Amino acid sequence: MALVSMQTILNEAVAKGYAVGSFNVVSLDSLQGILEAATQLRSPVILSVAEVHFKYIDLEYIVPVIKQAAAQAPIPVALHLDHGVSLEAVMRCFRLGFTSLMFDGSNLPYEENVARTAEIVRVAHSVGVSVEAELGQVGGGEGTSEASEADRSLFTDPEQAVDFVRRTGVDALAVAVGSVHGLYKGKPQLDFERLEAIARGTGVPLVLHGGSGIPDEDIKRAISLGIAKINVYTEMSMQAVQRIREKVADPKMISFPDLLLLARQGIKETVMDKISVFGSANVCQAPGVFCDSCGACVMPSGDTCAASAPSTNGLAALSDEEIARMVASVVRGILSLRD
Ligand code: 13P
Repeated sequence: MALVSMQTILNEAVAKGYAVGSFNVVSLDSLQGILEAATQLRSPVILSVAEVHFKYIDLEYIVPVIKQAAAQAPIPVALHLDHGVSLEAVMRCFRLGFTSLMFDGSNLPYEENVARTAEIVRVAHSVGVSVEAELGQVGGGEGTSEASEADRSLFTDPEQAVDFVRRTGVDALAVAVGSVHGLYKGKPQLDFERLEAIARGTGVPLVLHGGSGIPDEDIKRAISLGIAKINVYTEMSMQAVQRIREKVADPKMISFPDLLLLARQGIKETVMDKISVFGSANVCQAPGVFCDSCGACVMPSGDTCAASAPSTNGLAALSDEEIARMVASVVRGILSLRD
């Protein structure tokens, strides 16, 4: 299936009461592990590339591979920029055909977060790209060995969330309600009341960052209260390292690609576990709702699905001049905020 927008995936998740996993791609092996897991469980999936992970993969190399892999996968796949903080990252992702992006202005003063997010939403929507933003601060450090605890003073304020969503027009909102990126100090304590109030007031799909290490029951309750997208990275990374660690001490193990295969299997199994908890397994069965935006997926029988209409993120239809004009408009808008 061709890449679909995050909005398509999340609308369906909200309607049916499950959440979709957003898993970080940091290498070819992680891409393969995630897609194998989602394909096996026939679940939609969001492939996230985080700006802080650009140092691990060359975006211009990996995106064509991701598109090719998504086209062959018989499931809906969104390609998402995770925690985009710089305008450069956002524009690169537009250019490369990402179908959604997170603009993370959570550490900016409130009015600046609103203004920058609204500007990016305006441009993104003109080319069919979905936008997630963050209000409050989730904090922590994904993939690091340092554990963190959530800072209540940085939790999302429900009333401010309503104002933020109304003024920015974001498609999804990342909320700070007790999760952190990376390892937890002690047991995570999600603030379910706050989550419920934010969901009721905003009416948009909510996003839980820091999905590693949260007990399954808490995840399920959060989904029942409005969480529709859950970000996971640290547990995948830990499993990959664990699988390698188990073998690498053996002096006979000198095969680098075999270690990579072990890492990929660890990632795949972690993603499968998460998909099962999130409730998104088996939701992609043809003919189904996603067939409307499908670019002809290959069915398990090897046949091409008949119910297909190619989807694009809109950017492909634009000329280079039109894209250049849009870039200039965004840059002008953002520079004007500094005056
Ligand atoms: P974890 O690394 O804690 O799973 O969080 C991932 C995340 O939120 C990416 O945005």
